[in-house]
Formats: sequence, C-alpha cells, structure tokens
Amino acid sequence: MKKVVKTQVGIIGSGPAGLTLSRILSLCGIDSIIIENQSREYIEQRVRAGVLESGTVDLLNQIGVGGRMMKEGMVHHAVELRYDKTSHMIDLTGLTGKEIMVYGQQEIVKDLVMAHVDKEKRPIYFQVSDVQLNDIETDKPEICYLHEGSEYHIQCDIIAGCDGFHGVSRQSIPTNKLSIYEHAFPFAWLGILAEATPSTDNVIYANHEKGFALHSMRSPSLVRNYVQCNVEDNVNNWSDDRIWSELQDRMELEEGFTLNEGTILEKGITPMRGFIADPMQFGNLFLAGDSAHIVPPTGAKGLNLALRDVRILSSAIEEKIKKNNRSYLDSYTKDCLPHVWHAQYFSWSMTHMLHKFSDNDPYQAQLQLSQLRHVTTSLHASTALAENYVGLF
Ligand code: APR
Ligand code: PHB
Repeated sequence: MKKVVKTQVGIIGSGPAGLTLSRILSLCGIDSIIIENQSREYIEQRVRAGVLESGTVDLLNQIGVGGRMMKEGMVHHAVELRYDKTSHMIDLTGLTGKEIMVYGQQEIVKDLVMAHVDKEKRPIYFQVSDVQLNDIETDKPEICYLHEGSEYHIQCDIIAGCDGFHGVSRQSIPTNKLSIYEHAFPFAWLGILAEATPSTDNVIYANHEKGFALHSMRSPSLVRNYVQCNVEDNVNNWSDDRIWSELQDRMELEEGFTLNEGTILEKGITPMRGFIADPMQFGNLFLAGDSAHIVPPTGAKGLNLALRDVRILSSAIEEKIKKNNRSYLDSYTKDCLPHVWHAQYFSWSMTHMLHKFSDNDPYQAQLQLSQLRHVTTSLHASTALAENYVGLF
C-alpha cells in the first residue's frame, strides 16, 4: 500500500550532515523527515574521522548537542609533524589563537540521534530501501522508498541530499547539468582503533621512507592510528603484528620513541580521493557533505566541511520557508564551493607533503623534506598550515 507523508524538508541520510541539518531546522520551527538506509546501530558504530575545528565545536554547542563532547572530547593546542626521525610541533593556538577538538565522528552521530529520537521523540526512518527522487526540478519534489514492507512517498518543498558519496541524491541530477572534478591518489590508509593509552598529547603526522603514518586518539584509553598502504590492499594482508611494527618504524625518532600498543578492536581501509560536484544543487535538491565532495583525510577536513554546508543550507532554507526569499538557496553552491575548493587544496597539499608516492623517486622524497622543513621553520609557512588546520580559511 502506498503511504503519502508531507513535510517541509525531506532529508536523505542520517550521517553528521543530515542529522545536523534536521536539528537546526527543528530549532527554527521547520519540519523535516530523515530517511537512512542503514540501521541505527550501524551508523552509531561506524568508525570515521575525529578532528573538529572550533567552528564545528561551536555549532554543535549552539544546537545543544555538545554536552558530552565538551566532557569527553580532547582539546588539542598543537599538532606534530615527524620527518627525518625528528619531531616538529605546529603550535596551533600560539599561531592562530584557536584550538581543535578530537572527538570521534560516530560519537557526534550518537549525540545527534539521541537528541532527535530519544529527547525530541522524532522518528528517523532507518533501513529504508529503493530510495528514488522524483520531480526535483519542480516545487513539489518527492522522495519514494520502501520501509517495513510499505511504499512511502514524502512530499516536501525541499530535498536535502545528505546521503554521502555513494548515495542516490547526486546521481539523481542529470549528468549534463553536473561537472565532476575527481582525483584518485595511488595509495590508501589502513586505520585501526586500539585499546591503548595515547603516546603523546597531540596528533602526529609522520613522513617516513616506508610511507605515511598517523597517530590519533579517541579517549585516554583508545587510540586511532593509520598507515599508508596500497590502493588494492586487503586488511587480511595486515596482521596485528605487522601493523604495530610498521607504525613503530614510521613513527621512529632519533632520540628513541615507542608507540603504545594494545588490542586492535577495528581495522579498515579507506581509499584516498578528492571529489567535487558542481553545482551542489538542482531545482529543489541541495547536496550537503560527502554527497557533494570528498577530501583526502590528511587535512581532517571532511566532517568540518559537511557541517559548514549544513549551516549555510539551513539559513537558506529558513529564508525561503519563513520569508519566501529564495535568493540564498539560489546562491547555495556559490556560497559553499570556494571554501570547499580551499579545503580540497589544503588536503591535497598535506597529502602530497606526507605520503610516499613511489618506491623509486628520491627527487620527490627530497622535495617533501624541503617542504616539511619550510612549514616547520618559517613563521609564515607554519602559520598558514595552522590557519588551515584550525579552519580559519
Ligand atoms: N538512502 C538513505 N540513506 C543513504 C542512502 C540512501 N540511498 N545512501 C547512503 N545513505 C546514508 C549512509 O548510510 C550514511 O549514513 O547516508 C549517510 C551519509 O553519511 P556520511 O557518509 O557520514 O556523510 P555526511 O553526513 O556528509 O558526513 C561527512 O563523513 O566520510 C565522512 O569525512 C567525512 O566526516 C565526513 C563525514
Ligand atoms: C582521526 O583521528 O581519525 C584523524 C585525525 C587526523 C586526520 C585524519 C583522521 O587527518
């Protein structure tokens, strides 16, 4: 049986972008419905990135979901770069006056779902299938899907495509109306979550002749580490011993350093790509977050960009719904993309500076060391890196 539901904004995807958008709209008195093709358990457990710019922290606090983050999140005032077996601090706060917060993306998702479902008592339709967007170029767009054996049609004024890189929203825009900019890097990251005490107070990015490595954390007893691996690598090629041994090698320091080890709870491989869809809108469909753009994770920008889109989109939707002023919706792409491209550039340059591109390119390896010496010794260059990292641009 076909069931018709009406709302003002139909949101596809309950990742950070969709959930935050729905929360902001609800606080402005605008009604929305979220549909999600995975289960609540799945989205709450999926381990992703975890570095928040101060603007992202402010937004989560303003919308009333920052309580646990402020207690459990870890404020960092610096990041460390390692190369040539030496350690170099970028003093983020000294250089920019800002700090970053390390707090896992799935914790943000849990906090947002809890506010939405358990506190506000609003449903999220999980485990939907066969999602299809109709009439998106008209004033009466529609989202159709199957849920618990019934066919649903959400009739709304605006559709927000927050369904990530593999979602249906972007694919619903005619290909001749979209320019796609894409770059695939010739390596991937193997990420682990492990029960261990963080080895330092800061996130460490290491350039090493064996390849890139990253040390990060989630709590005083949980670490998140990454090693560069091959694009077509498989987690089964990586025993726990091999992972720890590569991490120890790539994090080495002249004066000696041992990374704390522990039980590995989760392993996964993330491809490294840059991707931008332009425009981020078509008719009454607006893309936000990973559905519109992906950055390689080296700059830790993905989540921050997603929430920036949502802030801009929510104000534009409010203008349209409350004042019948469509101009901010019309300029949504123009208001988002310059910043998205800047973050793309920063993530690309961090990726280039830190990864091993080939087994046999000593010229490139020397260029990377030269760039690393520059960003760690020139005040201007380290300030530029710090400004990008904390999100001033
Ligand atoms: N129908 C409904 N939901 C869908 C569909 C679909 N057809 N396809 C995908 N989804 C859901 C996914 O299951 C996921 O929960 O959309 C959600 C998209 O969430 P994210 O991938 O987390 O994307 P976004 O909210 O934009 O957050 C961006 O994710 O990849 C990281 O680094 C990135 O931190 C950034 C963040
Ligand atoms: C993480 O903590 O998962 C993390 C940190 C820094 C990055 C990417 C991921 O650049």
